[in-house]
Amino acid sequence: MVLNDVIIRPFEHGDFFRVSEIYKAGLDTGIATFETQVPSYDDWDSRFLKICRYVAFAKNTMVGWAALSPRSKRECYRGVAETTIYIDPVFHGKGVGKKLLQHLIDESEKAGFWTLTAHIFPENTASINLHEKLGFTIVGQHQRIAQRNGKWHDNVVLEKRSKNS
Ligand SMILES: CC(C)(COP(=O)(O)OP(=O)(O)OC[C@H]1O[C@@H](n2cnc3c(N)ncnc32)[C@H](O)[C@@H]1OP(=O)(O)O)[C@@H](O)C(=O)NCCC(=O)NCCS
Repeated sequence: MVLNDVIIRPFEHGDFFRVSEIYKAGLDTGIATFETQVPSYDDWDSRFLKICRYVAFAKNTMVGWAALSPRSKRECYRGVAETTIYIDPVFHGKGVGKKLLQHLIDESEKAGFWTLTAHIFPENTASINLHEKLGFTIVGQHQRIAQRNGKWHDNVVLEKRSKNS
């Protein structure tokens, strides 16, 4: 059943413990990311842009987070970023991911980003479907792009162009 009372607000430093718990649950699926360990706060903080970091709450608990990482340090790519989204497994399939990713898209467009990308394991149909549902299109598939625990994986590449540019 879809949760209607989802509150989304910007990430604050004190949220990190819960963010890392939710991240750990995603890592444990084996199909969410090439990472295998939850990063320290400093590592996590350096991976993601400072703007457009959001956390979602339902039933008085944090149930998900989303952020953007830069495509490149080069100035010409300043409006291009990659999405990351993690929802507590207890709250999967309740529409939280859709609300949080839509919020991330809307706020990124207001902030001037013109292209969002997503790089998703082909097995992660939930994330591919979620991104497609919100207007991302598949542009290709990287073959055996990197290893996780010694095993090569493909990545499906999706993108969404801002309606403002
Ligand atoms: C991917 C993820 C963020 C989806 O979040 P969610 O809150 O469960 O998704 P929602 O309930 O908002 O569903 C939105 C859409 O996603 C798709 N979807 C969600 N769960 C799905 C599943 N198990 N199988 C297939 N499609 C699914 C559907 O298209 C759904 O739309 P619909 O309900 O109208 O059919 C969540 O499963 C997650 O956190 N997974 C672990 C971490 C991860 O893989 N993150 C992404 C890394 S790229």
